[in-house]
Amino acid sequence: MILLKGKDFLTLADFGQDEIYQILAKATELKRLHRLGKSTRLLDGKSVALIFEKPSTRTRVSFEAGISQLGAHPIVLYGRDLQLGRGETIEDTGRVLSRYVDAIIVRTFKQGDLEKLAKAASVPIVNGLTDEFHPCQILADFLTILEKKDRLAGLNLAYVGDGNNVCHSLILGACHVGLNVSIATPPGYEPNEWVVERAKKAVRNFNHKIYTTNNPKEAVLKADIIYTDVWTSMGQEEEAQERKKILAPYQINSELLSLAKPDALVMHCLPAHRGEEITEDIMESSNCVVFDQAENRLHAQKALLSLLIGD
Ligand code: CP
Ligand code: NVA
Repeated sequence: MILLKGKDFLTLADFGQDEIYQILAKATELKRLHRLGKSTRLLDGKSVALIFEKPSTRTRVSFEAGISQLGAHPIVLYGRDLQLGRGETIEDTGRVLSRYVDAIIVRTFKQGDLEKLAKAASVPIVNGLTDEFHPCQILADFLTILEKKDRLAGLNLAYVGDGNNVCHSLILGACHVGLNVSIATPPGYEPNEWVVERAKKAVRNFNHKIYTTNNPKEAVLKADIIYTDVWTSMGQEEEAQERKKILAPYQINSELLSLAKPDALVMHCLPAHRGEEITEDIMESSNCVVFDQAENRLHAQKALLSLLIGD
């Protein structure tokens, strides 16, 4: 067992196979206890700050509920209400908050700001989404896949759409657990090269595949899982019209789904835009597990926090 206590969770690049499986095992146990109505107060008396510089439904509510269920106290802070918005540095904010709370969860724009905060803070920093990564989402996604398919290694996941923060974290997570990934994006919307290269290097050690293409049909052929996300991420609103046009051929619809395995899971981190990246009928189909993913945010994040700051 690898000790996770005191670590930051900034990207999945720093968490290997053992760490990920340890979190997933803990999440499974916490979910079982939760469903039985048993106590999961592993963080009694602790406090966790949550800083949001972008909107959120799932991340905020699942963390806030989960922290309370763990017996700890969540303190939700919006960027605009902090002195951060009036010029206090991210480093000073981290140093001050470290004197009050046991961990800090942050949703912000630049990954670099999160890294600066992590360097200055003396308590674990958890990435609640940046422009580049969304690692908490992927823990919940892996838990969902495990529950539905009993394994991660050797399955084929096709990501179709914008090569964004969720796509990046999927790529980095998948290489640690042996999920094969095919990514189909329009030209110019590919995931960052360094992320793909980093995963390819790790994949070499594990003998699993990572593949990028501009052809969605090619990516989803015989897939066990099809994953998509919004075409316009938070902060890209000005590009929305152009993105709608360019990404239209990358919609998850019945025609595309018919190329995957019949029991393929359809996944989406949500919020979904029905009629854009995914059709209404696919959202409501039996293949679609998006609400299980959303539920598992709660259990996966409780597991993560209990391992990072539990006694
Ligand atoms: N998937 C996800 O992170 O959702 P929110 O933006 O609602 O937190
Ligand atoms: N890619 C999306 C994910 C939302 C959870 C965004 O960054 O807006």
